[in-house]
Amino acid sequence: MTIKSKIIATGSYLPEKFLTNSDLEKLVDTSNDWIVERTGINKRHIASENQLTSDIATIAAQKAIEKSGLKPEEIDMIIVATTTPDLTFPSTASTVQSKLGIKTGFSFDVQAVCSGFVYALSTAHCFIKSGQVKNALVIGADILSRIVDWKDRNTCVLFGDGAGAVILQATNEENSGILSFNLYSDGSLNDILKTDGGVALNQKSGVILMSGKEVFKHAVDKMSKSVINALEKANLKVEDIDLLVPHQANARILSAVSDRLNLSKEKVIITVQDHANTSAASIPLALDYANSNNRIKKGDVIVLEALGGGLTWGSIVLKW
Ligand SMILES: CC(C)(COP(=O)(O)OP(=O)(O)OC[C@H]1O[C@@H](n2cnc3c(N)ncnc32)[C@H](O)[C@@H]1OP(=O)(O)O)[C@@H](O)C(=O)NCCC(=O)NCCS
Repeated sequence: MTIKSKIIATGSYLPEKFLTNSDLEKLVDTSNDWIVERTGINKRHIASENQLTSDIATIAAQKAIEKSGLKPEEIDMIIVATTTPDLTFPSTASTVQSKLGIKTGFSFDVQAVCSGFVYALSTAHCFIKSGQVKNALVIGADILSRIVDWKDRNTCVLFGDGAGAVILQATNEENSGILSFNLYSDGSLNDILKTDGGVALNQKSGVILMSGKEVFKHAVDKMSKSVINALEKANLKVEDIDLLVPHQANARILSAVSDRLNLSKEKVIITVQDHANTSAASIPLALDYANSNNRIKKGDVIVLEALGGGLTWGSIVLKW
């Protein structure tokens, strides 16, 4: 009997504090009109000074665990996708494990920037398929506001903080759960989206540097192709998609990808206007939004897709 993996619950958390575009007009030479027109973003949530990535990840995780009906100790594996860990080590996942009061199983972080959640969920899927794990807690959590240069208008308007989590569980149900995935990276493109700091380089976390136009071009092209490839692997076509839950970077990128795929905009979950780009958290936040707002029903074909620094990118096709 083939073991498959299925999302049985979602949860998310957004910090209370948020910054509107008019707040940003006071920080840099920008305008609400420019930000809305070029990105579709209206506001972004910002973690409070005393909140760590493990704190927001733990809240999202607790909500997902509660909805799953599982006891925390039934979780065999915790993966946190993040670019903004609490500490250089130990991993944020092991801190989350401790905050959840779990002493069994194992935990680790995945670093694939904005593609982190797609990488982490694919990894959890493989552990479940191999029979080593029954219940996996997969979290995407980032406090990007800590690595944004608040004087750089090219980047500071784009990012926000948040966390999202899912419980992925082993199942024997036929034609259900994760049907296919693909992951890609091209390290020769690492200069177009990066930080200027690092532990080994200068013992700093650095700030985000980005060639916006270059990233935009790669995002549209690579995410569209990755979706088609993942659908083909699952023997499905674009017409079979009920819901596309993309990484939320820019409303224009979401629109260009759905145009390339010839997919109706009604089938695309868009939260970027309220969340901005929350990096690894963006997909699980959008998925929990869709799940909580009755946008998903049993049997729906859902596609997740992301691109981020690295460059890294990939897609997952699943049946709810
Ligand atoms: C960043 C991004 C919104 C910029 O949009 P764009 O249409 O490419 O804009 P440009 O870079 O051509 O900039 C146009 C002008 O607006 C200016 N500009 C940039 N940011 C601005 C801001 N916040 N407010 C006002 N003007 C701004 C630029 O300086 C430029 O001015 P110039 O023509 O005098 O040089 C867009 O390129 C983008 O979203 N790229 C992808 C970013 C992304 O998703 N990154 C994360 C991926 S995980």
